[in-house]
Amino acid sequence: MKLKTVDKDNFLEVISERDCPWHQAYLAMYSSQWEGITTDPDLMLIPVDDHLVHRADGVFEAMRCVDGRIYLLEPHLQRLEASAKAIKLDMPPGYSNIRSLIKATVIAGDERDCLIRVVVSRGPGSFSANPFDCHGSQLYINTIRFRPPPKEHYEHGVSAITCSVPIKCSYFANIKSCDYLPNVLMKMEAVDAGAEYAVALDEDGFLAEGSTENIAIVDSAGVLRVPLFERTLAGTTVRRVVELSKGLVERGKLKGAGFYKINPAEAYEAGEIFLCGTTIGILPVVEYDGHRIGTGKPGPIFRELASLLWEDMTQNKEVLTEVGFS
Ligand SMILES: Cc1ncc(COP(=O)(O)O)c(C=O)c1O
Repeated sequence: MKLKTVDKDNFLEVISERDCPWHQAYLAMYSSQWEGITTDPDLMLIPVDDHLVHRADGVFEAMRCVDGRIYLLEPHLQRLEASAKAIKLDMPPGYSNIRSLIKATVIAGDERDCLIRVVVSRGPGSFSANPFDCHGSQLYINTIRFRPPPKEHYEHGVSAITCSVPIKCSYFANIKSCDYLPNVLMKMEAVDAGAEYAVALDEDGFLAEGSTENIAIVDSAGVLRVPLFERTLAGTTVRRVVELSKGLVERGKLKGAGFYKINPAEAYEAGEIFLCGTTIGILPVVEYDGHRIGTGKPGPIFRELASLLWEDMTQNKEVLTEVGFS
């Protein structure tokens, strides 16, 4: 076998030779390694000795920029900071400019609609498990072309299954660390079972969350129920959905809205089920573990909440941050 010798002289040529069609979605990356931004996907690299790569030692957030405005920037940053604090990860010095860095990366990517991923890693230093070997945390920001789920998922609904992957214990469920192996295996189980989404149960058999989304049901009494955040990530989207649903309670369309323990039998009997998350917004689940949910079609509360959420994402100045495109 003849292997290339790669060095500084031929590195760029070697990495440019590869055919990576998925790079088309990658818009821009800021890295604290270079304190700069690139729009060349070939250069969107993280050092292999960063603890992030070999120990998943880092925390992250994903947020949406909708028509040049970032939705829920502050709640995402608060959660990022809480996650970092929980794993005793100091923010890198450049983090004091996080808002400007995010905006600059979005502008460099030149897409008013995109997904923004912010990662804070323990940083490079050694290949050991010892975080004290690392020489300073790092910040990586990527903007990616936004690809929503297919329209049919909103028009006809999706299917979900209860998965067998054990849920993260509550201590880890609320740290948005880069260790997403259970979440990856959940998604794999859903796809293998021919369903769109998988839902994990907690150790007591109550509904917890999807691989990257929260779940909510409208129970048979007309109450919007969301699993308690003790066992799930406190999703920024589902929190807005609960907030927005208060208007539906006032108008008598819902009997109430709040956080509860929910067992699978209650979910099978639900009038409606939704999944909520940054990339999906709110999605109707019409089949769960082979049970038809409600009429088997997206229901009226879904339609109301989807329209309230879209209005919030596009018009509510209190939760939108201008990126500053010229
Ligand atoms: C495990 C998990 N639960 C729920 C969510 C939904 O959170 P958000 O609405 O803030 O995107 C996510 C999002 O990434 C997640 O990873």
